Amino acid sequence: MGLLNSLHLKLALLVTTAVAAAGAEAQTKPGCNYTCGNVSIPYPFGTSENCYIDEFFSVNCITTTSPSGEATTQLIYGSNIPVLNISLDPPEVTVSANVSYHCYNSNYSYHRLELSKFSISNTENRFTVVGCDTYAYFRDRSSTLRTGCSLSCGNETRFEEAGACSGVGCCQTSFPQAIRNYNITLESFNNYTEVRDFNPCGYAFVAKEGSFNFSKRDLRDLSNTRQFPVVVDWAVSNQTCSEAQKDARSYACKQKGICKESLLGYYCVCGDGFRGNPYLDTGCKDINECDGDNR
Ligand SMILES: *[C@@H]1O[C@H](CO)[C@@H](O)[C@H](O)[C@H]1NC(C)=O
Ligand SMILES: *[C@@H]1O[C@H](CO)[C@@H](O)[C@H](O)[C@H]1NC(C)=O
Ligand SMILES: *[C@@H]1O[C@H](CO)[C@@H](O)[C@H](O)[C@H]1NC(C)=O
Ligand SMILES: *[C@@H]1O[C@H](CO)[C@@H](O)[C@H](O)[C@H]1NC(C)=O
Ligand SMILES: *[C@@H]1O[C@H](CO)[C@@H](O)[C@H](O)[C@H]1NC(C)=O
Ligand SMILES: *[C@@H]1O[C@H](CO)[C@@H](O)[C@H](O)[C@H]1NC(C)=O
Ligand SMILES: *[C@@H]1O[C@H](CO)[C@@H](O)[C@H](O)[C@H]1NC(C)=O
Ligand SMILES: *[C@@H]1O[C@H](CO)[C@@H](O)[C@H](O)[C@H]1NC(C)=O
Ligand SMILES: *[C@@H]1O[C@H](CO)[C@@H](O)[C@H](O)[C@H]1NC(C)=O
Ligand SMILES: *[C@@H]1O[C@H](CO)[C@@H](O)[C@H](O)[C@H]1NC(C)=O
Repeated sequence: MGLLNSLHLKLALLVTTAVAAAGAEAQTKPGCNYTCGNVSIPYPFGTSENCYIDEFFSVNCITTTSPSGEATTQLIYGSNIPVLNISLDPPEVTVSANVSYHCYNSNYSYHRLELSKFSISNTENRFTVVGCDTYAYFRDRSSTLRTGCSLSCGNETRFEEAGACSGVGCCQTSFPQAIRNYNITLESFNNYTEVRDFNPCGYAFVAKEGSFNFSKRDLRDLSNTRQFPVVVDWAVSNQTCSEAQKDARSYACKQKGICKESLLGYYCVCGDGFRGNPYLDTGCKDINECDGDNR
């Protein structure tokens, strides 16, 4: 097992190195940790002071040991948001979010996600509701935006084959703008009175498109403890490129780094013919030069 793991690790490192065309040392500031479990932590993200660009890019690597002695290592954003992946280009972080539920026996749990400066990608995620006597919406806590959908079905309803979330027992909506903090609310029309034997609870969650395939058995029990990936957009700051470039000391794009803008602000990419980490001095490497290193 240990050998297999270390083989896996080596293989993963090899692949990462070949793909990124830059070693781990070129992805962080000197002396900073690059991995946490199987998640890579490229600068501007980091796990300790001087390793991240500012506190919004601070993540924590936490190892917990279960009662049975099994250790799990997780990268955490904020106080309790697990990070599954960090990408520089496109500037995205994939996090893990809980399922909200509400049951006939008044058992419920409504979740929210708070991202301070970053925002939930409105192009890559969907808001999904599962149930037969349920309506649910999510609310952007920094605006008046609310969006959601409602579901009614019965034990006679014909459900489609697994996969499609098409409005029968499962509905999905996209949302019109980038959301920083959301709050999910679920209600039932009729307290599950008619559907209790096959659908005792309603469920709602935000999830990366394609990460959930509906099946009829989810109506009976879509595990409360299930988590779904959510894609989060980030930017270095909310400035435009020209604003950021006025202050050379805080401007984040280093040599060969090119400034780009998104709705959130600016971020950096390596220029044509270069690959690597545009936020670090000499982080962008000549692609040909790297090919030479690897072959
Ligand atoms: C790197 O990780 C190790 C082990 O978790 C930790 O002891 C060390 O303080 C970390 N270093 C930095 C610079 O964060
Ligand atoms: C998700 O649920 C777990 C277990 O109930 C809880 O410990 C964690 O704080 C929740 N995460 C978020 C982001 O709410
Ligand atoms: C890390 O491992 C988990 C579980 O094996 C997997 O779901 C996830 O996609 C992996 N993440 C990365 C960045 O490879
Ligand atoms: C993590 O993000 C990178 C960069 O976008 C992507 O290539 C990779 O497939 C992602 N990994 C996972 C497990 O999502
Ligand atoms: C829904 O039904 C359950 C079980 O019959 C009952 O305990 C609960 O109070 C009801 N809730 C509402 C809001 O009527
Ligand atoms: C509520 O759901 C949780 C999670 O499934 C479960 O542990 C708990 O016993 C339930 N409570 C009631 C009153 O049904
Ligand atoms: C559907 O539910 C109704 C009312 O609860 C019940 O009378 C009927 O037998 C159920 N039909 C099936 C096929 O389970
Ligand atoms: C979430 O939204 C509901 C309904 O809009 C509200 O009652 C509740 O206070 C909100 N919760 C938080 C933590 O903002
Ligand atoms: C959903 O179904 C499609 C098509 O069958 C499959 O390619 C995909 O991997 C499934 N996704 C999940 C999360 O199970
Ligand atoms: C940009 O960010 C700064 C500092 O985080 C904040 O004070 C300011 O209100 C933000 N401006 C906009 C337009 O969001």
